[in-house]
Amino acid sequence: MISKNELHSAKYHLVYANIANIGQLESKLRASNIDRSLPTLFLSECVLVYIDVEGTDKLLKWISDSFPTALFLNYEQINMTDAFGQVMIENLKARDCVLSGAAACANVSTQMNRFLNNGWSGGDCLDMSTVYKCLPQSDLQRIERIEMLDERELLDQLLSHYCLAWAYKDNIDLGLDTISIS
Ligand SMILES: C[S@@+](CC[C@H](N)C(=O)[O-])C[C@H]1O[C@@H](n2cnc3c(N)ncnc32)[C@H](O)[C@@H]1O
Repeated sequence: MISKNELHSAKYHLVYANIANIGQLESKLRASNIDRSLPTLFLSECVLVYIDVEGTDKLLKWISDSFPTALFLNYEQINMTDAFGQVMIENLKARDCVLSGAAACANVSTQMNRFLNNGWSGGDCLDMSTVYKCLPQSDLQRIERIEMLDERELLDQLLSHYCLAWAYKDNIDLGLDTISIS
């Protein structure tokens, strides 16, 4: 069944929800017959930063309370307290786009603590500059040639203001604690 903003089939459900409204999120997932006992991956890309820290704390706590085996992968801003970060915040605010959750994007610790303080067992957070350097060098050279990259400092500055953070709960010992990037 396809409606204006959802898609439902026997085994696949695409639903909308305000993820700051746990009641709505929970009832949408329940209506989709989600099995919380199964290992579950949560992915977010530049979304949590739009929700105030109290709201994301509640969301992350609800997930860790509800899903015994889960991995959360979050890509979003980091180092938002420096000059570059402040310019980004102000530019977006000028366009009525407020980053209400920017406080959690101050550094690696603030990114990780919101998981660790809300029931998650562990995880890590790397800025994208670090992640970029871990990618296969031959791929980087090929892509940089295609992109005709000549502004390396600008790329580094941009990459150092985004991060990949992950957190896990692993009640069935899947080995989620061994995930690393190197
Ligand atoms: C910069 S965009 C990121 C787009 C996203 N990575 C994607 O692939 O669609 C920010 C997204 O956050 C979503 N968003 C912000 N606050 C939200 C909330 N409380 N509940 C659900 N989505 C939210 C917006 O709808 C928007 O699609």
